[in-house]
Formats: sequence, C-alpha cells, structure tokens
Amino acid sequence: MTAGKFITLEGVDGAGKSTHIPAIARLLQARGKEVLLTREPGGTPLGEKLRELLLHENMHPETESMLMFAARREHIEQVIRPALARGVYVVSDRFTDASFAYQCGGRGVSTAKIGQLEQWVQGDFQPDLTLLFDVPVAVSTQRLAGARNPDRFEQEGADFFERIRNAYLARAGQFPQRFRVIDSGKPIPEIHYELEEILSIV
Ligand code: TYD
Repeated sequence: MTAGKFITLEGVDGAGKSTHIPAIARLLQARGKEVLLTREPGGTPLGEKLRELLLHENMHPETESMLMFAARREHIEQVIRPALARGVYVVSDRFTDASFAYQCGGRGVSTAKIGQLEQWVQGDFQPDLTLLFDVPVAVSTQRLAGARNPDRFEQEGADFFERIRNAYLARAGQFPQRFRVIDSGKPIPEIHYELEEILSIV
C-alpha cells in the first residue's frame, strides 16, 4: 500500500484558512484520495483538552511551547502516522510551523528552543506540503474584529500578528520545496483554482 501524504495549513488568525478546508478535502477526494481532516493544537482527546488550556489560560510562553508540543506528540503517534501508513491524506489545520511563527515570532521564544522540541517530538518527520495562507495584517485583523469570544491569541494586537506573518514568510523562504504561499487576499474562486493546481500534483 502506498503511504499517504501529510499536508499542513498555516497562516495568521483571520488569514482565511478555515474557509478553504472543505475545498481542499473535496479536491483530494475527487482524485480518489482518502482524506483525514485534523487540527493543532488538538486532534486527540488529550490534545483537545490541552487546546482548551492553551487558548484560554494565561501561561509563560515556554509553557505554551511545551504544551503545544505535548499535544503534537500525541497527535503524531495516535493519529497522523497511523493514517499515513494506511495511505490516507492527512490535512492538518496547523502544525510545527505555527510554533515557529507564534511562539518564536509572536512570543519571542528562541528558535533554538523550539528547534529542540521539534527534534525531540518529531525527529525528521515533516509535512510533505505546507500551504501558507498569507494576507496583510490589516486585512486579517479586520476579519478577526467580527469574531465572538476571541481566544488568547486572537486578542493580541497588530504587532503580534505582524511578527507572526514575517516568521511564517521566513519559514516559507527557508523551506521552499514544501511551502506554497497563497495570496489569501484574492477572491475565493481564484484561490480554489490555485489550490486545484497545487493539489493535482501531490
Ligand atoms: P486555530 O485553529 O487557527 O484557531 P481558530 O479555531 O480560532 O481558527 O488556532 C488556534 C491558535 O493556536 C492560533 O491562534 C494559533 C495557535 N497556535 C500556536 O500558537 N502554536 C502552535 O504550535 C499551534 C499549532 C497553534
């Protein structure tokens, strides 16, 4: 049996990634792929409990980093790897690039420390494809302004998201083979057309 593929979706809060998840699943299913949609932090019963804490309890940025990776450890072992072994296409709404963007870029945790956690938790395991939904922060914060009950991250100011956006773009520049940067300010049909092209070759 052929192994599946691991596809991750990234972007600042409000970049519009959730809008495109159903289309991404549909495009892959249309090519006969079995698709599993999952998310981080979360994706397992324990991971979802950690998500609650991460989104709503104040904590030190390094505690936040370690809990993100604790949830990820469970997610990789219980969900992602077994599905990939069955030939499933796993689509995760966020993964480790979010830790480099949010905890390093946003909160100022050193990339060396996040790199150590990455090595510990996942070794050489990396996504096959990462779709970065990119939009100017003025646009994403405007979209967020309508959100009810914003979580700890969504309550942050424009500077925080500016640093996160820059950290994501730097990651995309560092790993051009697996990243595709999508201009998330374009009309939705144009984005779907681009997604169709990208996903036709994974
Ligand atoms: P998200 O699923 O985008 O929230 P929503 O349900 O509002 O769309 O992500 C939850 C938050 O977690 C988001 O603000 C980014 C943050 N996050 C990190 O800070 N580091 C990480 O490693 C991950 C996976 C997420």
